[in-house]
Amino acid sequence: MSSKDQSIFTVDYVDNKLMLLDQTALPAEETYIHCENWQRVAQAISDLEVRGAPAIGVTAAFGLVLAVKASSAETQEEMLDELEQVAKSLIATRPTAVNLAWAVQEVMTVARSTKTTEGMRQGVEDIAQRLHAEDLAICKSIGDSGAELLADAENVITHCNAGGLATVGYGTALGVIRSAHKNNPNLHVWVDETRPVLQGARLSSYELHRDGIDCTVIVDGAAASVLRESNVGAAVVGADRVAANGDVANKIGTYGLAVLARHHGIPFYVAAPLSTIDLSTPNGSSIEIEQRPGLEISEYRGEAITPTEVGVHNPAFDVTPAELVDGIITEVGVLYAPYETSIREALEGKN
Ligand code: MRU
Repeated sequence: MSSKDQSIFTVDYVDNKLMLLDQTALPAEETYIHCENWQRVAQAISDLEVRGAPAIGVTAAFGLVLAVKASSAETQEEMLDELEQVAKSLIATRPTAVNLAWAVQEVMTVARSTKTTEGMRQGVEDIAQRLHAEDLAICKSIGDSGAELLADAENVITHCNAGGLATVGYGTALGVIRSAHKNNPNLHVWVDETRPVLQGARLSSYELHRDGIDCTVIVDGAAASVLRESNVGAAVVGADRVAANGDVANKIGTYGLAVLARHHGIPFYVAAPLSTIDLSTPNGSSIEIEQRPGLEISEYRGEAITPTEVGVHNPAFDVTPAELVDGIITEVGVLYAPYETSIREALEGKN
């Protein structure tokens, strides 16, 4: 894979230190946070310094590496008990993105199977490194699976940031756009700004521009008229959790974009790795939706923008019903309705 395919280094573990690109400082500054303990990792996930479902999964895996390396436990049992507590705390940082719990469980399965403290230290680091490497390869495959869907598109619209920044690199929705752009270099991307934390305006535009992909940022409320007027070939977004029936939780505003896309006869695609599919969640109504601090809405750059007496409601995600999803682009191909069947077959094929 070329360095252009990597695009951006979001998460890297070097010399026993975890480096995270500080996404709260982008696009003004490209600075890395050096996490020396798991508590700092948990804080970085909660504060959105690192965000995006696959990226926080891999980050949490390295949080466990830092915890196991710092442990002074003398027995495997004692070390495992400590790690189970850390795992719980890391999972609790963000409840909707299932990749977080999934990655932590992948690491814990290895930790539980080890017999010695040294074996646990090594095993936990090896699996975290493997998840890191696999994420990049999986995103590239998602890009290849979906590129054909945008082969003739003049325009595509996306919401939030499901790019290299939201993964180890390359991205899911932006990975599809990156791959499509190789054969369709005139492809133009409409980027929803994505209230309230502006992942579209700050992050997607930053990485698309960096890769020479033409894009224009719009306020979320402009999506309807853009879809009516601008010859948009498809909407492509990421996902934080896909239920067994194909309902999709993703950044707040995704559901609205799906409704608009259907109204205008524009295909609406979700790009996600198989690790984002949660068979234990039967449908969208069972997905826990993370509630974020009201200040993300009621303040702008530290200044109040709403009367202090007025309440705000700040769900971080919404659920798009499967019937509005025209395809789920995964590393093993594009899944189509009925999703109960196509999802099950894709997961069975994987195992
Ligand atoms: O709150 P965020 O910024 O973590 O939300 C991110 C999203 O909603 C992404 O679309 C999703 O995690 C997929 S990232 C490949």
